[in-house]
Amino acid sequence: MDRGTTAVVTGATNGIGEAIARQLAAAGAEVVLVGRDPGRLRAARERITAAVPDAVLRDELADLSLVADVRALADRLRDSRIDILISNAAVVADIADRTAEGLQPTLATNHLAPYLLLRTLGENLADAGRSARLVVVGASPTALRSVPVDLDDLGFRNPRALGFPPSFRPFVAYGRTKNMNAMFVYSLAERLAGSGVTVNGAHPGIIRHTGLGRESARGLLRIFGWSQWVNPLLPGPDAGADTPVWLATAPEVEGVSGRFFVRRKDVATAAHTTDPARRTRLWDESARLTGLTVDH
Ligand SMILES: NC(=O)c1ccc[n+]([C@@H]2O[C@H](COP(=O)([O-])OP(=O)(O)OC[C@H]3O[C@@H](n4cnc5c(N)ncnc54)[C@H](OP(=O)(O)O)[C@@H]3O)[C@@H](O)[C@H]2O)c1
Repeated sequence: MDRGTTAVVTGATNGIGEAIARQLAAAGAEVVLVGRDPGRLRAARERITAAVPDAVLRDELADLSLVADVRALADRLRDSRIDILISNAAVVADIADRTAEGLQPTLATNHLAPYLLLRTLGENLADAGRSARLVVVGASPTALRSVPVDLDDLGFRNPRALGFPPSFRPFVAYGRTKNMNAMFVYSLAERLAGSGVTVNGAHPGIIRHTGLGRESARGLLRIFGWSQWVNPLLPGPDAGADTPVWLATAPEVEGVSGRFFVRRKDVATAAHTTDPARRTRLWDESARLTGLTVDH
């Protein structure tokens, strides 16, 4: 890795994101840790420094469920050197939850935040003639085939449409936002084509010992989820970090853009994520919800 390489990682205070930040720091990058809580940022920084004593780390505080916070973060990073930008933060929130801005937090955190942050900074870097690799951590394309995005109800206003039992609905909503990740990657890559800025998606694998979905799990899902999180046969966060870090650093994927990877393999995602008309609808509605321009 070149000296002075700078990497920005969202959701760097736990699980896979922290492992991504640690691996990039160990490879010699200066890493900007994005988190929503100062105490959790400090704790993550201490854990990374304990593992990588010469790590060069910087904090950025932002609640990614708030459009205003994401916009302010993008403004603060606009003039920074950015070689790598990894959108990893995600949440499984209750369907009825709303942020102070009136948005459903799963939609806001998992899709609108990367849309606003990566679109703004990616286009800015491309306009400046810079090279950078953007990576969006998505989820399993196989598991997500059966949960297409409902373009008429991005914010899950109709909970019944998310199926039964109700305890599964937060996870169905989460799955839809992860399909939005793939749709966004393909659309942003088309816009950045011809520039030095690439963007790809990655499924980290099913990874134990992370915090994802713990708060929303109810009933059987809690028991099932618990066994998944602690199952010693499942790999840990370092394995989850492997494909995102590889996409961000490996010479063999330099210049590759608009693809989705599982275990370092280029895979096809469902037709409902690649369809150009569906992607345009998602792009335009996301622009409206985040206050960005709709220009094709
Ligand atoms: N674990 C798996 O099996 C699995 C499978 C498929 C895909 N993934 C994907 O992998 C990525 C990482 O998940 P994980 O399993 O490592 O989950 P995790 O342990 O819960 O980590 C999620 C990270 O996102 C941050 N975050 C959540 N809401 C935020 C907000 N409003 N503002 C700022 N940061 C916020 C969390 O911050 P706090 O520390 O403050 O909570 C945490 O650092 C996600 O994109 C997830 O969809 C995971």
